[in-house]
Amino acid sequence: MGFYPGVLIAADAQARLDRMVAVGPVGWAVSGGVSGRGQVGVRPADDSGRMTNSAITASGLRKAYHDKVVLDGIDVNVRTGTVFALLGPNGAGKTTMVNVLTTLLKADGGTARVAGHDIVTETKKVRASIGVTGQFASVDELLSGRENLQLMVDLHHFKGGEGKGVVENLLRRFDLVESADKLASTYSGGMRRKLDLAMTLVGRPRIIFLDEPTTGLDPRSRRTMWNIVRELVADGMTIFLTTQYLEEADQLADQIAVLDQGKIVAQGTSEQLKRQIPGGHVQLRFAEAAQLDAAARVLTGSTADAESLILRVPSDGGAKSLRAVLDRLDEYAIDVEEFTVHMPDLDDVFLALTGHSSTEAESKTEVVTK
Ligand SMILES: Nc1ncnc2c1ncn2[C@@H]1O[C@H](COP(=O)(O)OP(=O)(O)O)[C@@H](O)[C@H]1O
Ligand SMILES: [Mg+2]
Repeated sequence: MGFYPGVLIAADAQARLDRMVAVGPVGWAVSGGVSGRGQVGVRPADDSGRMTNSAITASGLRKAYHDKVVLDGIDVNVRTGTVFALLGPNGAGKTTMVNVLTTLLKADGGTARVAGHDIVTETKKVRASIGVTGQFASVDELLSGRENLQLMVDLHHFKGGEGKGVVENLLRRFDLVESADKLASTYSGGMRRKLDLAMTLVGRPRIIFLDEPTTGLDPRSRRTMWNIVRELVADGMTIFLTTQYLEEADQLADQIAVLDQGKIVAQGTSEQLKRQIPGGHVQLRFAEAAQLDAAARVLTGSTADAESLILRVPSDGGAKSLRAVLDRLDEYAIDVEEFTVHMPDLDDVFLALTGHSSTEAESKTEVVTK
């Protein structure tokens, strides 16, 4: 592991980054409002060693299935009250990591503490502190939403009528009141995920693991789920989520770790990772070479391709940055034929960090699995 200011990077990824954009001296206190809420605690820039405010720490976690190494020495540190996103394509090892941390699966090596408890020697205490919502919702299809929640309440032995209030509160909170008495089998994917998460919350966990909470959901359900996650964190919970979506990690996470073939190839805030990904840009196409040249002169940092008459201008895709580009062109009376915004996606991240695309990683994995 090499150290960049505030960013942990595996050695080979670091070498690649050395050739790329230099990462500025960013402290961890920076949190550019990525998740649209107040900053949860500030920690010093030098943050080595075990933190007392860590909800989850893992060191050198390893797991192999037969001779296939799935987790190859994973270190993580998740601060209490923050969202940590493990970002990676299919087969990267995300679910395996969640299963190990939630004591559902025994690691071959390494150590981890969850809510201050050792995952091997204090399994029960770990389980009592966490909630897990798997990639495939674990609701009982033959029960209604309300009955599913009641089942969880019964399992948790609430006193007197307290349990009743819990069910009604959760139904309301997750906007499931109207469908509460319908069978879960009639629920949409989004409703099922919400019910699943509501069931997890019955036990009032301090730490929640969400394994691909929005995979397969439509954009609207995805946004609802994002808002729920934000609310949970506002309530002081710690969220460990896995995702294949760069945007999801960007929207929710205080810290993102990119998992590739069992290794964390980069780790940092969304801003820090974005600085390592050269994907975000505006693409301008011109009708004539003269205009391309003129635009290239006035737009700093741009790269021109004379053959296709295309100019690429680095951009974060935000309204401010787009307006600045357009204003500049206007100011110099330069006409543009076509204007497109390209935002980096998971593939750009993987290409930048690992030198291969996320789907390549997937197909490689498949080959090895056979
Ligand atoms: N029980 C198992 N036995 C053998 N191989 C497994 C098992 N579970 C997962 N794997 C393999 O481990 C790799 C990582 O799986 P997983 O953790 O589910 O990845 P992700 O959740 O990121 O898609 C995959 O190649 C998968 O095929
Ligand atoms: Mg998975």
